[in-house]
Amino acid sequence: MLIEPYACGTHCSIEEAKLAFQNVSKIYGAGADSVTALTPMDLMVRKGDFLCIVGPSGCGKTTLLNLTAGFDQPTSGKIMIDGVEISKPGAERGVVFQQGALFNWMTVLENVAFGPRATGHSASVAREMAMETLQMVGLKDFAKKYPYQLSGGMQQRVGIARALTNDPEVLLMDEPFAALDQQTREVLLEEIRLLWKRTGKTILWITHSIEEALFLATHIVVMSPRPGRIRAAFQSGFGRSDDPLISVTPEFVAAKRHIFELLKSSQKDEVQIQ
Ligand SMILES: Nc1ncnc2c1ncn2[C@@H]1O[C@H](COP(=O)(O)OP(=O)(O)OP(=O)(O)O)[C@@H](O)[C@H]1O
Ligand SMILES: [Mg+2]
Repeated sequence: MLIEPYACGTHCSIEEAKLAFQNVSKIYGAGADSVTALTPMDLMVRKGDFLCIVGPSGCGKTTLLNLTAGFDQPTSGKIMIDGVEISKPGAERGVVFQQGALFNWMTVLENVAFGPRATGHSASVAREMAMETLQMVGLKDFAKKYPYQLSGGMQQRVGIARALTNDPEVLLMDEPFAALDQQTREVLLEEIRLLWKRTGKTILWITHSIEEALFLATHIVVMSPRPGRIRAAFQSGFGRSDDPLISVTPEFVAAKRHIFELLKSSQKDEVQIQ
């Protein structure tokens, strides 16, 4: 099997970590109605890591991503990027949401140029930057269209282009391909893998799909539901493989089964708690 357990909270020092999560928890609301979305967790992500977070619905994946994006604050602990505590969104973190999240009243080009405009680039420079990333995701010819004139897969590419345009060091992706058909997904997954290999960006990728995580990741964190916590963490060799048929190898299938069984047993735990 090409996956090995690792101590995700201590595998590198804070100085070496691109992202460091220390004792991070999140409780929504207060009193009897409060929901513990995340119990205190530690996690270190090195520069260039492709970290996939896998877990069932409601285990706190989006919560973790929103905290990392700076859209919300943890209840305890802190999240650091390059040793600096995150307190708000920043241009060094690009976010791709599960569903489009595009501005429907803007053209594709305007959507993608929005980020560089917001970070102070002139309109012409922002347009140039946007055209470059649109070319990268194969949508240069659709720059003047509106989101509703594109397919779901193309809209997701625009979302990715938008996140890439400011050339962020870290990409935060919340199940970006969950709504896509299998073929489009496979094509885009391969593109993301190539992009990651070419740019060496640090990626935090959330997914329900064990197969997707194994295909992409250098590190996989498996979460358990209610209250959300890290159940297991693995280093994985599949993400760096160049074999296009890696997902049908016996090692890959064995790793998939191993994580599947982990997830299944944590669902049983949840049923017993209730
Ligand atoms: N703004 C909020 N206010 C109150 N509770 C919330 C809020 N956001 C999330 N929660 C709760 O926190 C828990 C974790 O939610 P979260 O959206 O992080 O899960 P998830 O793992 O992303 O699930 P899914 O796979 O379905 O997207 C859930 O129980 C949810 O009800
Ligand atoms: Mg979610």
